[in-house]
Amino acid sequence: MEIIVNCKHEDVMRAAKSLRDGHLVAFPTETVYGLGADATNKEAVRRIYSVKGRPLGHPVIVHISSINVVNRWAEEIPEYARNLAAKFWPGPMTLILKRSELAKDFITGGQNFVGLRVPSNPLSIALLKEFELIGGLGIAAPSANRFGAISPTSAEAVMDELSKHLSSNDLILDDGICTIGIESTIIDCTQALPRILRPGGVKEEEISQLTELDQSRKISISEIKAPGQLLSHYSPKAKVSIGELAGAGDGFLAFQGIPTPPGAIRLASPSSITEYAKEFYQALRSGDSLKLTRIVVVPPEDNGLGVAIRNRLEKMLF
Ligand code: TXA
Ligand code: MG
Repeated sequence: MEIIVNCKHEDVMRAAKSLRDGHLVAFPTETVYGLGADATNKEAVRRIYSVKGRPLGHPVIVHISSINVVNRWAEEIPEYARNLAAKFWPGPMTLILKRSELAKDFITGGQNFVGLRVPSNPLSIALLKEFELIGGLGIAAPSANRFGAISPTSAEAVMDELSKHLSSNDLILDDGICTIGIESTIIDCTQALPRILRPGGVKEEEISQLTELDQSRKISISEIKAPGQLLSHYSPKAKVSIGELAGAGDGFLAFQGIPTPPGAIRLASPSSITEYAKEFYQALRSGDSLKLTRIVVVPPEDNGLGVAIRNRLEKMLF
């Protein structure tokens, strides 16, 4: 496995060819780093599962370069989904849509629905465009972490997670730290009204300005398989607590204005909710590298990006 920094056009071309040849390319998006494979290559997509240690049968998001190619992968796209795509793509939003024939069972986990996203990070778009120029149709990419661990927001974090499992022909494209830092908002667009399955980078407040949302039905794991909705997902090794007093030797994560309790180890001091999201996973990771056993988090309020952060925190408490 090779890590490429300061990617130039020739590096992007090389990465696109690597994907076409069936290798894996970890690449940055504005949310988190993804572990990419040619979304039409069953063997390559299977390797994603073995590198991540992810059980087979979980669906993976297909990344595409623009809304113009959405019809390759999806059919019967509701008008509200088109409006969402027009407004929030490229960006941190994944739409679950009725699949086309191109979206095979190894992508959708055997469901009739496919998850699609147009990322906005310029390097990811360059890679998607270059891949399409040489005949690629989309890049399948879950977050580039081992199954059950938190998503990587830097190339170093991808290395920590996956270097032991990647092969010599796989690549990691380094583009620094992800600007958003928390995964995309996933919206089920298979019913009469859209429904948020995973809160993320696009806020519910922004979505409901555009379309009515289905708030009535609770998310059911059996209905739509999303491992991110299983309990105890996205966890660091340290035990995460909220609302408790941090003691000596505990990690501590809170907004800048909140003082560090005596003896606790400050992991981040974000000064805004945007910074909080951007630093969140990295702060938890640094707690793990310091071998802390407990990290006390003072969560943000339950609105905007805070909803996504609290959603991830809840899954860490089990
Ligand atoms: O921000 C993101 O979404 C990142 C970047 C790399 O794009 N990707 C990401 O992928 O978080 P992953 O696999 O770690 O989480 C995506 C979630 C999973 O829980 C998966 O089960 C769900 O999306 N998902 C993907 N396709 C689906 C489908 N067809 N139906 C239901 N859920 C789906
Ligand atoms: Mg993930």
